[in-house]
Order: sequence, then C-alpha cells, then structure tokens
Amino acid sequence: MPGGAVDMEAVGGYEDILRNGDAWLRDSASEGRDGLGWINLPARDIAGVEETAKWISGFDAMVQVGIGGSALGNLMLHGALLPPYWNELPRSKRQGPRFYMSDNVDPADNRMIWNLIDPEQTVFTVISKSGSTAETMANFLFFWDRLKVDLGPKKAAEHVVVITDEEKGVLRPFADEIGCRRLVLPADVGGRFSVLSPVGLLSGAALGISARKLLEGAAEMDRRLAERNTVFENPAWLLAALSVAHYRQGRNMTVLMPYEDALERFCEWFAQLWGESLGKNGTGSTPVRALGAIDQHSQIQLYTEGPDDKLFTVMTVAEPAEEITIPETEEKALVSLSYLFGQSMNSLRRYEALSTAAAIAKSGKPVVSIEIPKLDERRLGAMIQFYEHVTALAGYLLDVNPFDQPGVEQGKNYTYGLMGRPNYSAQALEVTELAEK
Ligand code: PA5
Repeated sequence: MPGGAVDMEAVGGYEDILRNGDAWLRDSASEGRDGLGWINLPARDIAGVEETAKWISGFDAMVQVGIGGSALGNLMLHGALLPPYWNELPRSKRQGPRFYMSDNVDPADNRMIWNLIDPEQTVFTVISKSGSTAETMANFLFFWDRLKVDLGPKKAAEHVVVITDEEKGVLRPFADEIGCRRLVLPADVGGRFSVLSPVGLLSGAALGISARKLLEGAAEMDRRLAERNTVFENPAWLLAALSVAHYRQGRNMTVLMPYEDALERFCEWFAQLWGESLGKNGTGSTPVRALGAIDQHSQIQLYTEGPDDKLFTVMTVAEPAEEITIPETEEKALVSLSYLFGQSMNSLRRYEALSTAAAIAKSGKPVVSIEIPKLDERRLGAMIQFYEHVTALAGYLLDVNPFDQPGVEQGKNYTYGLMGRPNYSAQALEVTELAEK
C-alpha cells in the first residue's frame, strides 16, 4: 500500500456498521432522543425566528452573547455568506445591523463593544443552551447592567432576546421576569449541532441571510444522503470511514484547509464539532484549522515533510463571489511578473489549492479534495448537514457518544466551584488539589 493510502477494502468493510449507524441516527432523531434533534432542524417551523429577525434588522447594531456552540455557528454563517468587513460597510450597503460577538470573557473586548454601540439602537441576544455557562452569564451581566443604567429596566428589556432551553438554567425564568423576547433552543439539539436552530438562524436572518434557503439546502443534503446506502456512493459514509481508517492508521489529526477567506470560520465551527464530539475515552483525531494560501507560507513544510500523522482536506469554491484580473504594468523592474499579467486572481488561488493537494500527495500523505460549487445559503446549509452526519457517523464507528461533552462540563463545574457557586465547593477543592500536584 503506498504511503498516504488506506486499504479501500477496509474502508468498504465499514459499510454494514455505517448502515446500522445511519439507521440508528435517523430512528433516534424521530424518537426525539437527546442530541439527535439536529437531523430534524431543517423541517422545524422558523416563523418566530423570521419575525424576530425582521424586527432586529431595523437596528443599527446587534450584540450576541454566547460561547462555543452558541457563537461559532453564527460567526461561520456570517463569514461565509456576508461580504467581508461587514461592520465597516455603510448602512445603505448592509441589509442588517452591525454585528458583535461577546464570547470570550475579555473585559477589553466587552468594554470596546459597549463603546462602539448606541444602546438605544442595539439589540442584545443572549444564547445559552444550558442557561448557566459562567462566561456567557458574566458577559451578559455586564451588558445588562449597562443597558439598565442607560435605558432604565423596562426599556432595557425591550432590547434583549433570550435563546435557551425551555426547562434548564436561569435564562428562561429571567426572560419571563423581565418580559423580553425569547426563542426556544430545542431540548434534543446539542450546542455544537445547533447552528440551524434559532441559535444560528436568528442573527443570520437579521443580517439578510435566508434562513429558509439554509434549511432547504440542509434538507436536500439529508434527502440525498438517505437515498445512498453504499460506502462508495454516500459521501458522508465515505468521509466518516476514511477519517476513521486513517485515524486507526496513526493519523490522529485532521486538517481542514479551505482556500477561501469566507470559510475560515467554517474551520472554527468544524473544529468544535469534530473535537468535542469525538474526543472521548482516549480516542478522537485532533482538528486543525488551516487557511490557503496563507498556510502554504506557514504550515506546508510541516504538512509535506513532517510526520505522517494527518489526514488533509483541501476545500475550494468553484464559483467565487468576486473576481479580479491581475493588472499589467509597464515598469521594467516588474517585467518578470508578466506571467501574472491578465490572469484571474481566482485561477491563481485554484492553482495554489491544486499545488498544495499535489505536494501533500507527492509526499505520501492522504488528502481529500472537496469543491463547493458556490457559497450560497443552500450549499452552506448542505455542507453543515453533511459535516454533522460525518461527525455523528465517525462517532458511531469509534464507539463514542458524539452528543455529550463530559470534559467541557467538568471544566464548567471547576469554574463554578472556583467562583464560589453554591453546591460546587467539592469541585473547587478538587481543582485546587490538582493544581498543587
Ligand atoms: O456543544 C456544546 O454543548 C458546548 O460546547 C456548548 O456549546 C458551550 O459549552 C456553551 O454552552 P451553553 O450554550 O450551554 O452556554
């Protein structure tokens, strides 16, 4: 077997287990089993999301407070579907408000966001599935306090939208107490699988992205995957099988390298989906975010001549949103650049992607190429659904539960303990003892 290859018979050998896994996912989703609700999101009613988004679209700014699955999907959608430098565009060129994400607990960021917005003209969405995450709560408490000081409690509540679980956490009762708008994050949808729920759709739709088309694309992908039941016909089965086969051959990293700035945040979203879903019980490949062509000038040396411990995916877009023809110029000093004159900047980018894939293959490392015809709502919705299927199926093959995150919960509990939350003192003690070791 040449370097970089896996035994395709072994990949084909995953077919029966993938068939079982696929049936299990779909059956569990229709039974409403915890964590599987993402499969049904394309069919859910989004009238409430659209109505709230329409209201938000008239404001000057939108601040979202959330972290992890309550933030990364939004940034991914905006990155892929909105023009770059969105906040700097004049209002006449934007179909919605400026957008700010308060995810990390960083006083400098939060203070700057507050300084950049006019509270009278801003909507704050606070998103937390659990309704208790310390980072989100701390950031929200800061904005809520400032809002009340500036607008008074009653008016402040008119500028807040809560997205949370129907039952869990403090946000739902908080929304009832202050009387603000509220959208439900379905109980059977986990954080990192929630981008096609109100979590991702609300800010997307408020900024002019069609939530309906995203869901149509996801539904279409779901339908097409459901129709194909061999490993070499079903691309989600194939990528899950390849990923696991390479992982079992010692390639414990998976590098996602799009050649499109608009997909940089897709890598962030994917990294959470893949890492948090599969990293369990001593198993799981580490997701690595890369961006072409930038990482050609940073990481390719390692990728080609470093250890054979990675599976690469190079991602391109066939019909990019913009084109520039590289201009000619007459200076003698630049004559050696004439090979570029008159060429398309997108061709250069395509050749870069091709060269990278070829260089990786030549070095004997495995590379998957994915071409997206065009970056629009339908295709992005399809890509989201596709990668969610791949991740869930890879979890099934690896025999881990892709829908829980005990490691994340552990970290949250230690933080609660250290910050003095009642009933978490044992956690505080444990973390202090571990730190002293
Ligand atoms: O996927 C997950 O469940 C997590 O990464 C969460 O998205 C993250 O911890 C934020 O949690 P919450 O939305 O409950 O505030």
